[in-house]
Amino acid sequence: MRDLIFKTYFGRSIMQNLEEYFVRRIGNFVIRPATYKDISKVISINWETLPEHYDNSFFDELMRDSPETFLVAEDGNEVIGYIMCRLEYGFTMIKRFGLAKKGHIVSVAVIESYRKKGIGIALVEEVMKMMRVKGCSETYLEVRMTNEPAVKLYEKLGFIKSSKIEKYYRDGEAALLMSFHLTSGA
Ligand code: COA
Repeated sequence: MRDLIFKTYFGRSIMQNLEEYFVRRIGNFVIRPATYKDISKVISINWETLPEHYDNSFFDELMRDSPETFLVAEDGNEVIGYIMCRLEYGFTMIKRFGLAKKGHIVSVAVIESYRKKGIGIALVEEVMKMMRVKGCSETYLEVRMTNEPAVKLYEKLGFIKSSKIEKYYRDGEAALLMSFHLTSGA
């Protein structure tokens, strides 16, 4: 339905339509689709909050390929958090076998001074809604075994620990692969 709405707006960019159509408020904060203008701030939050960094071109690539699942949280005009994803086809992680369209949560972060206010969970919830709109039946992510805030957040949403990937990170730490069935309710 949202796809249809996006396509039937004439003379406007898809990002303008996305912003108009999809904005969630949490108290004073707003979650909205990211634009190319937000990318430099997203990169700086990524550097500030996570040990995993990417080439600048990777952020552009995710914005180009999957704008619906690249969201930012804002306080006034300041970007204070983001989530970015990649939509993929591959083997299901939820069912016993078969292929699935999957939403891969590549990175999510909230600036430290804004944490524990419900922004992180709202970013993940909103991106999951957009994944459903884009036809994904499952979502997954990798998270450090020791990243308790993130693991707890995903568990709170109903993600399950699917497997462990030894030495996934450059420093040798293992990752938990966590997944969630998008079409089972929730
Ligand atoms: N300790 C334990 N559980 C925590 C937590 C903490 N410090 N922070 C969040 N959680 C869990 C809780 O279950 C919480 O629900 P509750 O408030 O009812 O207890 C739930 O997550 C939602 O918290 P929320 O306020 O929405 O999270 P946040 O806005 O603080 O953002 C992160 C959470 C993980 C995004 C944030 O800590 C962050 O940016 N960390 C650095 C980047 C990172 O690790 N990203 C994840 C990579 S996979």
